[in-house]
Amino acid sequence: MSDDKKKTISGFSKLSKTGKIKWIVENFFKDPETVMRELMSYWHTSEEQQKVLDGFSENTISNFPMPYGVAPNFLINDQTYVIPMVIEESSVVAAASSAAKFWMSRGGFKTRIIGTTKVGQVHFKWKGDLERLEQIKEELESRLLEDAEDITRNMKKRGGGIESFEWLHMPEIDPDYFQLRASFQTCDSMGANFINSCLESFAKTLEKFVTQQSDWKEKYRDIVIIMCILSNYTPTCLVEASVECPVEDLGTFAGDIDAQTFADQFKMALDIAYHDPYRATTHNKGIYNGIDAVVLATGNDFRAVEACGHAYASKDGQYRSLSFAEIKEGRFRFWIKVPLAVGTIGGLTALHPIAKRSLELLGDPDARELMQIIAAVGLAQNFAAVRSLITTGIQKGHMKMHLQNILIQLGATEKETKKVERHFEEKVVSFSAVREYLEAIRNEKGIFTKT
Ligand code: MEV
Repeated sequence: MSDDKKKTISGFSKLSKTGKIKWIVENFFKDPETVMRELMSYWHTSEEQQKVLDGFSENTISNFPMPYGVAPNFLINDQTYVIPMVIEESSVVAAASSAAKFWMSRGGFKTRIIGTTKVGQVHFKWKGDLERLEQIKEELESRLLEDAEDITRNMKKRGGGIESFEWLHMPEIDPDYFQLRASFQTCDSMGANFINSCLESFAKTLEKFVTQQSDWKEKYRDIVIIMCILSNYTPTCLVEASVECPVEDLGTFAGDIDAQTFADQFKMALDIAYHDPYRATTHNKGIYNGIDAVVLATGNDFRAVEACGHAYASKDGQYRSLSFAEIKEGRFRFWIKVPLAVGTIGGLTALHPIAKRSLELLGDPDARELMQIIAAVGLAQNFAAVRSLITTGIQKGHMKMHLQNILIQLGATEKETKKVERHFEEKVVSFSAVREYLEAIRNEKGIFTKT
């Protein structure tokens, strides 16, 4: 069989989990038995828990471990939190913790919800116009609400539901293209299922309503639903987090940088990120190091949160930073405004065993509180990154962790680790340099023996 043929299979999804792994390891790996053992070693020890994990996705063959860390000492609106973070990048949790501690003694983070509205769209083609729609709008909208009653009943009881409708005609897409844009409140759930179910109900009602307008010419009774789906762009599901203190309370920083110089350079770094998309992208990436880590740890959808944040960062036509700084009347203020459509009930938040624990660790917040916590973590992460960049440089912290990872890979003993750390204090860390130095000290006969 040619190599490419071996890489194709039909009925893969029907194989048992072991069957799937077998086919994978036999056709793609040099040492099938070892790889099979390795993949199976990450199966959950409890069959029941493994079933839960397998239920999240398809064709699962193993689990992919990621570090689960915590950042303590977050003072947010006068409440102290320990933040759960799932992230594979070194230094992120350390940076968040250090920024949290810095601001804890300066009043902590203050946050506020600006809005919690979510959005969904029904896209359709129709030969009518907005004036015609205007004539039937009232009746049509009350029909839309009525027909979705079964779906919205529970959400209404919890204080949410359908908020409003907007009808749009966008002839630049197609002369017949229209859109129903609906706004929702989904309380403590992220609300994707609720919104999508409502939208599909709207589409059916809309189709029926338009085709039943017997006094309209035939062409106006012709409607084609293109698609119904929530929008991950939720600029009105928005939260602000901020920190502030007198400039002199910022203290002094590495390299004898005084508070005023630090504040000025910090503000300059923020201005650069506001104006230059190249810098803004990296700046915002640093913010999402923190945001994504908490979003993941709490079982929320980090792709949705990121997609929305980056779209929001471009809302005025240019991609800009999501955070801002100001120095006014001797006070330093630093803040972020970020859209965060997250939930604390439903979806993975209840199913994932550790996501559940993350929420418990946070004191079982509602969605509004979780939005505020996440925004504060994003701001802390950004503060730590910019603080490093304008003082010691980012590599110092990164290299420490990088060195640790290399030493683990090379199986260094505690004694060897200490010696290598000392040696690389002022030197550039690279895998080959560390390996060379480690080999050299291992060859220093009898001094260090591997345990
Ligand atoms: C690295 O993951 C994140 C930073 O690049 C963010 C920034 O540059 O602001 C350090």
